Amino acid sequence: MRLLVTGGAGYVGSVVSRLLREAGHDAVIVDDFSSGHRAAVDGAELIEGDFGDRERMAAALAHHRIDAVVHFAARCLVGESMRDAAHYYGNNLVRSLALLDAMCASGVKQIVFSSSAAVYGDPVELPMTEDHPKRPTNPYGETKLAFERALRWYGKAHGLASVALRYFNAAGATGDGRLGEDHSPETHLIPIVLRAALDSSAVSIFGTDYETPDGTAVRDYVHVEDLADAHLKSLALLRQGESASFNLGNGAGFSVLEVIEAARTVCGRPIASVPAPRRPGDPPTLVASSARARRELGWEPRRPGLEAILETAWRFLRDHPRGYAS
Ligand code: UFG
Repeated sequence: MRLLVTGGAGYVGSVVSRLLREAGHDAVIVDDFSSGHRAAVDGAELIEGDFGDRERMAAALAHHRIDAVVHFAARCLVGESMRDAAHYYGNNLVRSLALLDAMCASGVKQIVFSSSAAVYGDPVELPMTEDHPKRPTNPYGETKLAFERALRWYGKAHGLASVALRYFNAAGATGDGRLGEDHSPETHLIPIVLRAALDSSAVSIFGTDYETPDGTAVRDYVHVEDLADAHLKSLALLRQGESASFNLGNGAGFSVLEVIEAARTVCGRPIASVPAPRRPGDPPTLVASSARARRELGWEPRRPGLEAILETAWRFLRDHPRGYAS
């Protein structure tokens, strides 16, 4: 297939773009490098600019004879979204709708959308299935949910087939250590813990009094290459004209303390930590049921262990101690 990948220079987008090409697809990347990295564009054709530029995207879809869009480009920090809702609505919803309009204008009828566990809000039951109540607690999750809902209505009105993939905690790096997580600022636990191992800095543990076995927050970490694999499988579903949404997680939760302990083992170094107040908006526990993805996509995480995730992320950090700028 010929695919347009928005945000293909970002963390998950770059790994998916590479996998698509390895699987024999043609991927054209659109990225404005607001948070993506040129070094993460692994030889793919590149359109540098705004994925929300309706005319430009319509022209690109027609010019490259695109079959389907894989849409990653988004702002994705919960805390930032609480401070700057307008940015999140503008990017994640308004510009994304312009992309959908460009698709409709060009007759491109298939899209895989990078969504998030943030569409659910605080868990009322665990593990969380796709039918869990959707009550986002921040503009990030709200805008992801709003776009998912737009996909559904565009499907009915315009014949668009869509797959929304709700990632839990994306983590890890490619097995060759070339593509991994490089955010600025970095807010995610695993890169922060590994950075602490590298620099002998200390990790702040945001909340030690949660109602969890050790008092720290529990998350479902899923390897970025397993996430990537789900995108390939979603394209196969789209080719059958079907629409769906899927949770992507391992179904196993690890606490902040467990992540730090596993990282000590993987890195073979001490990692200091200090208790800190809870981070606003953080639920105590997020664990996915991915039964639907296993059943309907045939998706099976192949790197489910926390150590495998940490080992690849550690290798990426050692090879890129200053991120892609290294
Ligand atoms: N944490 C710390 N110290 C840190 C960084 C994180 O204790 O220095 C804690 C957080 O408070 C949280 C856990 O580690 O309890 C995981 O935090 P991350 O920032 O790595 O991930 P989140 O669970 O907050 O965010 C993820 C995705 C978001 C998504 C969200 C859904 O990255 O895109 O899940 O709630 F929106």
